[in-house]
Amino acid sequence: MEPNREIFGSNLMAIFALAGSAIGLGNIWRFPYMVGQHGGAAFIIVYILCTLVFSLPIFYCESIIGRRTGRSSIGAMRQLAPGSRWTLIGVFTVLGPLMITSFYSVVGGWSIAYLLRSCFSSFGAMSHEEIGSLFANFTGSVWGPVLAHTAFLLISAIIISAGVRKGIETFSKYSLPPLVVLMILLMVYSISLPGAHAGVEYMVKPDFSRLDARAIASAMGQSFFSLSLGMGTVLTYASYMSKKDNIISTGAWTAVFDLGFALIAGFVVMPAVFAAGLEPQAGPGLVFETLPFIFADMGAASPLLSKVVTVVFFLSVLIAALTSEISMYEVCTAYLVEERKMSRRKATVLVFVVAWSIGVACAVLPKVFDFCDFVSSNVLMTLGALAFSLFIGWRMKKAVVEAELTNDGSLPGNRKVFKVFYFLTRYIVPVGIGIIFLSNFITF
Ligand code: TRP
Repeated sequence: MEPNREIFGSNLMAIFALAGSAIGLGNIWRFPYMVGQHGGAAFIIVYILCTLVFSLPIFYCESIIGRRTGRSSIGAMRQLAPGSRWTLIGVFTVLGPLMITSFYSVVGGWSIAYLLRSCFSSFGAMSHEEIGSLFANFTGSVWGPVLAHTAFLLISAIIISAGVRKGIETFSKYSLPPLVVLMILLMVYSISLPGAHAGVEYMVKPDFSRLDARAIASAMGQSFFSLSLGMGTVLTYASYMSKKDNIISTGAWTAVFDLGFALIAGFVVMPAVFAAGLEPQAGPGLVFETLPFIFADMGAASPLLSKVVTVVFFLSVLIAALTSEISMYEVCTAYLVEERKMSRRKATVLVFVVAWSIGVACAVLPKVFDFCDFVSSNVLMTLGALAFSLFIGWRMKKAVVEAELTNDGSLPGNRKVFKVFYFLTRYIVPVGIGIIFLSNFITF
């Protein structure tokens, strides 16, 4: 480890940063819909099982590599497997985050635009047709999305240039608790709407007959995406953890917060959708088309309440997106600082320029956007995760892995978890990742 390398202030701060990375758009616009589509509580049970069996082991693999070496992804692989092909994993895990940083920033920009819109004008004053075409018009234009993307990336760059402690840690510490409080308030409001019970039912009613192969592959993929795995993000953040921190409990808490937030988001979104008599959907349409409809309806009855709810909602989306964005931004920055010996400021600017350029292409060309999304989320992420699990399971010495998870034996309670983890990582996780990978290409 470099002598003056920063580390997080405490284990709790590491959890905040990791949870910030995990909690993002995936929790708000994909999880609720998936739960409803695939059998409510039945899907949630499968989701939890997938997290325990697949996602947490991968989380631990990345954490072990990061904390052991105290270096960011490429450097970590160079240190652990010098001169071998394993160092290629590091390359993947810088390209992937760079791509996600770019297109995620476009979406983050949309949330800034909608936040400003909800502050300065009201959705309530618009007809349903107007709202329906608003999103298409906005994303179809050039200046609006590009400016919004620039603003979002600039905020991320400012946080990153401030460093690990003053930037990432401080931002996560002060933004996550209010984010959770805001979402809980929205949830209470949403559930209290007349007709909301159908949405609650959609989320919780267990329907085991819907649990087909597709549902299980979706649960795996979502749990994976939601914990930001396979991209070197967990690796990089873990490299800022103290040698005394407990990797196992850190991963467990991150997963608990991530799932808790996803469930809250589900109870914000779905009751409101059903109360308004609309069809649930997933993706950008849910956040930027369906929900503004609902806010418009509310606006007719109570303009002030509508404004407050809208502002709070888009502010929450923005914070959730920012805490994820900075975690990817940091992967690229850490590489430039540590391996290319750049100053942090210079590295931040360089990543900004590259991510801004790719982001502009994503903002104006939907095909580029879809390409970046597909390649990073479905190909690079799964291959990255596969490589991490194979590296820990088959290449790294077992004793070293155990030492890292038990802090050289000083956390004897972790030894049992280690045994289960090691078995899963060697034999089960690679198969699971293979299934997720194939499910991207096969419809079943
Ligand atoms: N976990 C984030 C979400 O739920 C998205 C994400 C996927 C991500 N991969 C990542 C974030 C890698 C940071 C790094 O929206």
